[in-house]
Formats: sequence, C-alpha cells, structure tokens
Amino acid sequence: MRNFELLLLTYQLITTLLPILGTIRTFPNAEPIVGHNIELVKENELPFVVSIAKKNNNPYADIEHLCGGTLISKKHVLTTGHCFTDRNINNLAVYAKSYILSSFRSSKFDIYSVMNYSEWASNRDKIGSPVDDIAIAELNIDDTRTVATSLSSITDNKTPGMKALFAGWGATNSGEYPMIMQKVTLTALSNKVCKKNLKALSSSYDKFVLRNNMICFIAKPWAAAAPGDSGHAILDENLRIVGILAWSYPLPGRIFSKQISIMIRVNHYTDFIYDIIKNNKVQD
Ligand SMILES: *[C@@H]1O[C@H](CO)[C@@H](O)[C@H](O)[C@H]1NC(C)=O
Repeated sequence: MRNFELLLLTYQLITTLLPILGTIRTFPNAEPIVGHNIELVKENELPFVVSIAKKNNNPYADIEHLCGGTLISKKHVLTTGHCFTDRNINNLAVYAKSYILSSFRSSKFDIYSVMNYSEWASNRDKIGSPVDDIAIAELNIDDTRTVATSLSSITDNKTPGMKALFAGWGATNSGEYPMIMQKVTLTALSNKVCKKNLKALSSSYDKFVLRNNMICFIAKPWAAAAPGDSGHAILDENLRIVGILAWSYPLPGRIFSKQISIMIRVNHYTDFIYDIIKNNKVQD
C-alpha cells in the first residue's frame, strides 16, 4: 500500500511537473535542445534517430514533430511511454532515414502497435509504473534499408562523469522546432549529486523520487533537452543507447543555467526490450 502511495505521489509529481511533450509549441522568452555548444547533425551521422509526429498525408506540409525515437531493429522504435498518452497511434507516423525532418526527405512509416513497459510487465504479473517511462513502437513494414542501433553496455556505476551525445528535433534556442537535427554533448551526474542539484533548484523537486532507473545529465555551459525531445536517446561514444529522455527540470522558461535532463536508463529494461524485438509482432 505504501509503495502504491509513493508511486501515485511520484506519478502526480511527474504529471504536474511535466513530461516534456512535444505539444507545447511556443516558449515566451525561452531559450529552450537548448543552451550552449549545440551543433547541427550531419547527413548519415545518426541514421537511426526518428521523429514520432502527427501523421500527415499532405506531401507539402511541415512535419509536426511530437517526440523522438530510436530504431533498435529494422522495425522497432524505442521511445518514452508518455509519447503515446492520450494519442491514437492511427494519427501518428514515424518519420525516418533523414537528418532533415521534411516530407520531401523523410520516409514515413505507419505504426502497427505500441507496447509500453507497464503493459508488458502486467502481462507477466510484474509491477510496472508510470515512472517506467519507456515504450516500443513497431512499424507496420520492415524496410531493409533502415539502420538501427543497439543498447550501450555501460553499467550504472560507470556512468557518473560520462560524456554522451544527445540529439533530436526538440525545440531550439529560438523556441522553434528545427528541420535539421541538433546535437549536444552532456555529462552524466551520479544520482546523489543530481538529487542535490534538483533540491537546489526548487523545494518542490525535493519530493521527486530519483530512482535508480533514472540518470541525470547536465552541461557546462548549460545545455539541456527541450520540449519535443522526449523519447530521443542519449548515446555513448559508440552511438549506442544509454538512456531515453523522459523529463527536463526546471520547466522551460525558468532557471536555464541549472537545467537537468533526466533519462530512463535502458539497461534496466533489457528483458522488456529484447522480448519485444524477439517476438517481432508486438502483442496487444
Ligand atoms: C501503457 O499502455 C496501456 C495500454 O495502452 C495504457 O492503458 C497505460 O496508460 C500506458 N501506461 C503508461 C504509463 O503510459
């Protein structure tokens, strides 16, 4: 019971404090990936990064990016769970195979099915929760030309201080969503230091339960994930996935210089991830 209450509290905190959904589209005075030392991704540099966007059948329309994702097989996209909250997958599409997000360049894939960790776990009598903010979308076709990456082999105790690459189509310093993918190098904190930093930001973050399935990243000078970056991956030096962006504190528009990006560690979900990939068709 106590566990459940804690869970609920965490959930409420998260939902009120904010998952960074791509639906918030303008940021007054925001310098939301935001911050310093942000660079443009080059062609073929990160071919496995995709956008989960509103499905659009108009070939001339801009793509309305909602969340990021990463191909972990020719047809499976690893992303956050909250990307699919209150959204019908029939209205979404995955845009892939181009660092320039555009109807002219990106390949559009329909989503066949989505499985989040909670749902997968409950089918196995395990306890899943909203803080297990990870999901896999299965594309409806198997395109042999798509390029995938895999999970990093780094262990939790090796992550503090590690430098990792974060890239995506989340909002930029101008508050606009970019067409060209942006990237930045971030540094991982230990959870202990992260908790201290969160506390220093606001007493309301005191109650945020930083679980060991989460990992915090910062940069100096500051840089952080922005709205629309949810679901994008943080990558190790071999461009393998360490984590998936779930939250960023504080909210855009506040104290940017202390911005912390919080990722879900994928190595805590290998049984889920490999099970889904292996089964090929996501069960529903
Ligand atoms: C996971 O998926 C199920 C079924 O679609 C949904 O009811 C549930 O709210 C999702 N959980 C989370 C944490 O998003």
